[in-house]
Amino acid sequence: MARIKNRDIEVTAGKPIYGGKTLSEYEGKKVMLERALPGEKVIAFIKKKKKGYLEASAKEILERSPHRTESDCKYYPTCGGCKLRDVEYDYQAWIKEEVVKDCVERIGKVTDYEFLPLVKAENSSNYRNKMEFTFSEERYYMTKDEPFDEDHFSLGFHAPKFYSKVIDVEYCYHQPELLNDIYKSIREILKSSGLEPYNIMQHTGFLRYLVMRITTENKVMINLVTKSKELDLIGSVADQLIEKHPEIISFMNTINKGLSSTAYGEETILIRGQEVIMDHIGEYKFEISSNSFFQVNPGQTEKLYDKIIEFAELKGDENVLDLYCGVGTISLYINKIAKSITGFELVEAAVINAQKNADLNGITNCKFVSGDLMQLAKDGKIFKEKFDLIITDPPRDGMHPKVVQSIIDSKVPKIVYVSCNPSTFARDVQLFEIGGYKLEKVQPVDMFPHTYHVETVGVLVKI
Ligand SMILES: C[S@@+](CC[C@H](N)C(=O)[O-])C[C@H]1O[C@@H](n2cnc3c(N)ncnc32)[C@H](O)[C@@H]1O
Repeated sequence: MARIKNRDIEVTAGKPIYGGKTLSEYEGKKVMLERALPGEKVIAFIKKKKKGYLEASAKEILERSPHRTESDCKYYPTCGGCKLRDVEYDYQAWIKEEVVKDCVERIGKVTDYEFLPLVKAENSSNYRNKMEFTFSEERYYMTKDEPFDEDHFSLGFHAPKFYSKVIDVEYCYHQPELLNDIYKSIREILKSSGLEPYNIMQHTGFLRYLVMRITTENKVMINLVTKSKELDLIGSVADQLIEKHPEIISFMNTINKGLSSTAYGEETILIRGQEVIMDHIGEYKFEISSNSFFQVNPGQTEKLYDKIIEFAELKGDENVLDLYCGVGTISLYINKIAKSITGFELVEAAVINAQKNADLNGITNCKFVSGDLMQLAKDGKIFKEKFDLIITDPPRDGMHPKVVQSIIDSKVPKIVYVSCNPSTFARDVQLFEIGGYKLEKVQPVDMFPHTYHVETVGVLVKI
């Protein structure tokens, strides 16, 4: 084949695969194609040549899918937050189902299992209860006509492939209207304050990230992440904002002096209001601090957790292990149908939150342990007791093989595996199958409309 990288090709998009891509073919080579829907004929640019396949991105659609619609967002698709915003919602649901099936069957090598249709979301916009925006001194211009930013102030999302540039976003469809209103005010206040946005290349400036959380009762927590400690300045910003938006009941300031590009830092200081906010899932209340993990789509979380309950089929006398338990939400949600629940979690603050949450709800049959599961698995510290069921909800990378092996060695009769990444889910499922478990059923749940992300619940039983 002639030199193929950095070339344009005409290709028809095939079946959907994980990562918002389709699997296509060009001159006998597999093509992982971005930005095309199944069946669309496109001109695509070949970005990379890998062993056995090409990576390409559609730049012009020659034959358009009937499922493509118009996007309502002016930042789409550049901002990267949505990958399917111009696709009919029912078709998005079909894509996600196909992707989960493909992962289970191609990566997991399992074909004999029950596949249940995706649990769709009621709201495909304004559903996120947590948003994170980045400040930058360097704006990413989406078009040539965009006026030059005299203020050197950008707040929004990182432009894909540009380490230092940020798309200046005024409105985001992912967040509820109240957060959009508050976001607008905070932009105005900060822009006119003269406080300098961060420059990631030179490590200069002050404003780094803005993190906003909203509860189901419309109470808001703001966390402004800055490079240094300027409590009076932040206090004045907080006062102006709270005066305009009394729904803000917590204003925090995280200091990140380091080079790491994260909204976490060395210190998180309470500026105004309270240090934690309360939310609920079903009948249970949860205390959430600015850095704790909490599911981002509250409407869908309940549906997800109800699926866990349905699949767990507990009678009430079982001892349950809840791995990667975060602030204990799953443990507490299932407390009435189990004898005991033990949660394991890496982040110590989350474990403290989890125990507090149990106390808050008057729940006495849950206990929480902090530690790195990989280390605990190595030391045999998870399985000192016998468990009847393991619920596992690892981060995107899935479970470390040593953790999978220690679960297999424990001979637990049933595992409910909750995953936000069907490809690592499928990889781990294959290990469980080799280790003597059978994948019985798989249920995708849509927690993230307009993105390619999908939550999956699987049930594995010991043969
Ligand atoms: C997807 S979240 C699940 C949280 C929780 N189950 C829920 O539904 O809210 C994954 C959790 O795993 C934790 N985690 C990541 N790596 C870990 C490790 N090596 N050992 C223990 N916990 C870990 C993270 O801190 C996070 O809280």
